[in-house]
Amino acid sequence: QELQLNLEQIEKGGYEHFMLKEIHEQPNAISDTYRGRMLVDKGIIRMAGVDDNMERIANAKRIIIVACGTSWHAGLVAEYIFEDIARIPVEVEYASEFRYRNPVITENDVVIAISQSGETADTMAAIKLAKEKGAFAFGVCNVVGSSISRETHAGAYTHAGPEIGVASTKAFTTQITVLTLMALKLGKFKGTISNSDFQFHLQELERIPEKVKEALKSDELIQEIADKYKDAPNCLYLGRGYNFPVALEGALKLKEISYIHAEGYPAAEMKHGPIALIDEQMPVVVIATKKGHYEKVVSNIQEIKSRKGKIIGIVTKGDEEVRDLADYVIEVPETMESLTPLLTTIPLQLLSYHIAVLLGKNVDQPRNLAKSVTVE
Ligand code: G6P
Repeated sequence: QELQLNLEQIEKGGYEHFMLKEIHEQPNAISDTYRGRMLVDKGIIRMAGVDDNMERIANAKRIIIVACGTSWHAGLVAEYIFEDIARIPVEVEYASEFRYRNPVITENDVVIAISQSGETADTMAAIKLAKEKGAFAFGVCNVVGSSISRETHAGAYTHAGPEIGVASTKAFTTQITVLTLMALKLGKFKGTISNSDFQFHLQELERIPEKVKEALKSDELIQEIADKYKDAPNCLYLGRGYNFPVALEGALKLKEISYIHAEGYPAAEMKHGPIALIDEQMPVVVIATKKGHYEKVVSNIQEIKSRKGKIIGIVTKGDEEVRDLADYVIEVPETMESLTPLLTTIPLQLLSYHIAVLLGKNVDQPRNLAKSVTVE
């Protein structure tokens, strides 16, 4: 028993929980994901699974992404990236819905399965179905040699290293990293992105690990915010564009480990429902980074403020406008819009972590949840 405990402490590498360790591993996990693939000086991206099947993937009439949970959120971010950079229409589906709705799939489709464990039963079934209908199946998995990585025609590993905490963190940011590389590669091949834009993306991506480190420095401020709002029964997360899926992911993290009811919403949809919930009790986390519809999000923040909601803004470093309106702001470094999810996710992970710790919840093994769901 004692030996077991010591072993676990060693595995946690000085952190109190696996989740916290994994949050802090993200700068390295992200660079491990692009290392050897992204050759910035030469302006190329090497990914064997894509290179070997370039015609098939680049000529896809449509990309269908299937996944569950956090991986599904990474898929939603990828939808924006692929459509923006590679100009291929993308659909993102919950694997469990896709497999049971007699979907229209053709040989011209590429189905991308995203799965940390590579063992999720619904995602596996979705891939089998897509293959039966003639689609090309591509896997984005973390666990090497996992079932989904073997079932797919080709794939790219995330190289995040083992993820133990049930609430997924570094798997999410590395999935986005792999999918960004893939979209850039396809965009370059298809000519839908200029060489200079391509190069700029590579340079910015290379700077992300340093910027994640900087984002992690808000930890103390986030603890203070967590303490302030830990007893809230509900919490709303809002974002637009690339950061809409991040809002969903932030809400999921809070639900999973603190058991506080939380909802993620596209900021502009707020007025079609969630705005009715806002009162002086309601914390609203708003991702309001510069670029990406900033002014529109600021006006959403004003709407929340006039209804006395408590505003926690996730903003670009140096922002003044949101600071004037919000109860708290958490800064992240500036980057290009498509890469902001890799930074804005960080404070949301830390916020849910600290709230769960303050509430005395079992952070690494939340009730009723499993790390990998191998039954449907
Ligand atoms: C479970 C886990 C989540 C994960 C989801 C999908 O619900 O608790 O953290 O996002 O499964 O898992 P996968 O391994 O397919 O990414």
